[in-house]
Amino acid sequence: MSRKYVAITGVQGYVPDYVMTNKELETMVDTTDEWIRTRTGIETRHVQKGEGLGTSDMLVHAVNGLLEKTGTKPEEIDLVICATITGDMPFPDTANIVCDKVGIKNAFSFDINAACSGFLYALTTGAKFVESGSHKKVLVLGADKMSSIIDYTDRTTCVIFGDGGGAVMLEPTEEEVGIMDSIHHSDGSGRHYLHLKAGGSVQPISVDAIEKREQYVFQNGRPVFKAAVNGMSDVVKTILERNQLTNDDIAWLVPHQANMRIIETVSKMVEFPLDRVMININRYGNTTAGTLPLCLWDYESQLKKGDNIILTAFGGGFTWGAIWVKWAY
Ligand code: UT7
Repeated sequence: MSRKYVAITGVQGYVPDYVMTNKELETMVDTTDEWIRTRTGIETRHVQKGEGLGTSDMLVHAVNGLLEKTGTKPEEIDLVICATITGDMPFPDTANIVCDKVGIKNAFSFDINAACSGFLYALTTGAKFVESGSHKKVLVLGADKMSSIIDYTDRTTCVIFGDGGGAVMLEPTEEEVGIMDSIHHSDGSGRHYLHLKAGGSVQPISVDAIEKREQYVFQNGRPVFKAAVNGMSDVVKTILERNQLTNDDIAWLVPHQANMRIIETVSKMVEFPLDRVMININRYGNTTAGTLPLCLWDYESQLKKGDNIILTAFGGGFTWGAIWVKWAY
């Protein structure tokens, strides 16, 4: 049986207007612009301001832009998968809400929660539906409003995260391009180092939980840092090796944007030159499920048909993985 290929046929990102600088954070917690730049590489991050706005509203901008640039009508979309850990509400899924807001009426839609690896998980899942022949135009979304779950009195987390995300379109193609291979892992024992405790079935929202500030992200940064560099380096090496690719065959490495030092270390460990690594953490910080579509969006004009790119991410769970994509346009 001949293999069916699944192309990414468009990408669109979105970040909210408000730019939070390191200087502003200096007025909120005991930190400095110098510490943030040297320890994380982050200079600014975007924050969604305004009553009643959430992750779906950022995604509406991205999806409308994507539909317009690909000349697609909302009713042509038959599946929407949204990666996020900051859905508008615990249920319904944010994918359902986005569909309603942009007029996508002929699709089924659902969310995937894999924290910073969410976009990778969603991309592979969406590609399987197209590959099977059951779905023809699939939207894969990744976005987070991290400002809604960040404690702006905790200097160890509040300087890192930002809001934003994006969307890609998947379609079948006769050409040998698109999602070529993917590797995914998860390890729930990592939950002790990175989690949000309150609001789930173990610890519903309560006055006690709020007093302990458990409605916010908790992170023990150092073990996560170590696991992230090892996890991402490992999957990048494996995906290259098992497809007989060398670094010279790869146009771009597209890593999750969690910390510039993590990106630099991974690039060293896989011996891949930093000038072919997509980097925008300086402007957006860590937007969790949003980092990879935002990278593709920022670098779209530099991508050429046939370029091999490797996406990789690591995040809460732990979850991690890598996807080899041959750019389709
Ligand atoms: O995307 C999901 C996965 N997440 C990640 O990949 C994040 C992985 N971790 C990291 O990126 C880093 O561990 C952090 C950026 C979170 C922290 O950087 P670090 O270099 O690992 O710092 P540290 O936690 O070892 O802390 C070093 C010092 C501490 O002070 P003492 O105990 O040595 O006096 C911290 O209290 O830096 C202090 N510190 C800060 N100082 C100024 C921590 N945050 C700040 C801050 N400003 N914002």
